[in-house]
Amino acid sequence: MQFSKRMNHFGENIFTTLLSMKQELETSGTKVIDLSIGAPNIPPAQHVIDALVEAAKDPDNYIYAIKDLEELHEAVAAWYQRRYQVKIDPAQEVVSLLGSQEGLAHFALSMIDEGDLVLVPDPCYPVFGDGPLIAGADLYPMKLRKENQYLIDFDEIPEEIARKARFMVVSYPNNPTTATAPPEFYDRLIAFAKKYDIIVLHDNAYSELVFDTEPGRSFLEYPGAREVGVEFNSLSKTYGLAGARIGFCIGNAQIVAQVAKLKSNMDYGMFLPIQKAAIAAITGDQSCVEKTREAYRRRRDVFCDGFTEIGWKIDRCPATMFVWAKIPDGFASSEEFVKTLLVKGGVLVTPGSAFGKSGEGYVRIALVKDEEDIRLAIRQVKESGILK
Ligand SMILES: Cc1ncc(COP(=O)(O)O)c(C=O)c1O
Repeated sequence: MQFSKRMNHFGENIFTTLLSMKQELETSGTKVIDLSIGAPNIPPAQHVIDALVEAAKDPDNYIYAIKDLEELHEAVAAWYQRRYQVKIDPAQEVVSLLGSQEGLAHFALSMIDEGDLVLVPDPCYPVFGDGPLIAGADLYPMKLRKENQYLIDFDEIPEEIARKARFMVVSYPNNPTTATAPPEFYDRLIAFAKKYDIIVLHDNAYSELVFDTEPGRSFLEYPGAREVGVEFNSLSKTYGLAGARIGFCIGNAQIVAQVAKLKSNMDYGMFLPIQKAAIAAITGDQSCVEKTREAYRRRRDVFCDGFTEIGWKIDRCPATMFVWAKIPDGFASSEEFVKTLLVKGGVLVTPGSAFGKSGEGYVRIALVKDEEDIRLAIRQVKESGILK
């Protein structure tokens, strides 16, 4: 049999190796604390579950949705107005996604042609590059460096690359580096995108998980943003709806129309009870958002302070549900450290190199376990003696 060359982008990777190492350890009786994948364990608020259950009881809600409910778009407009003071046209400036991941995987198919150039951060959340690769793009990595607070340095992008680029993916608060971006950054981004006619996809999955400073903002708050791009937003972490698969593409009407057109030929819309649950989430009582933020903040403090105490110095991360930590001295690579941490300490994290070349020397920890398990992870690593 012969298969698509496209699939070669998803060859055997470190995740497959780590997963089988983890399974082997578990079979031999070791408790592995898995902090590798960003799968949240905080459930939705009761009123959101109730809305889903009520809608699921109605036999009429099992038809193909085909399109988003008008009331869903109106709810998104009300949410953006209330939360970010951004006015959007519910009829033309929003389309739902079956999770941001789905949107990120498909976006390039509606924007570019084979051989076009796409700018992606390095390191980055993998689908930022995989989506464009599926569409046949060439990628240019925009380096995120600690000394630049992990912000994209637009002056570093060569003129001929900027002229060729069709779109760019930008995302703050950032996974994996956990960095946030100040308003001046967005002004520079929009000026750069206008100058070179580059479409911007801003992924805003973590605006609600900013801990010690002002709340996160929307890309669409900045003047000119809507002329150059769209924002993806997700209900997965903010409202505990990860498994329900719901997110949105919001902003420039022409781009939204392209995404909606592609999707209308690929899927039959979102299960209606999920649309109803999303409405309940974004228009209902918002105290769950604060509770979720607090839960992640406490986990971050327990993790960063606890490991610092036992000899692995980790600064408290400013945002997201992740910790981005430099590997301790004495390890040749992030992969080597991850394997040692797993085998000797029973703790699984992701090597920074899995997010791109510039991630080497770091690991990403997903705060997807309760404080008790995080404390256990610290104890296990301390007892393993791997931190000298
Ligand atoms: C930056 C970023 N974007 C998108 C996603 C995917 O979100 P969703 O559940 O909406 O597909 C994640 C999930 O970890 C993420 O970290």
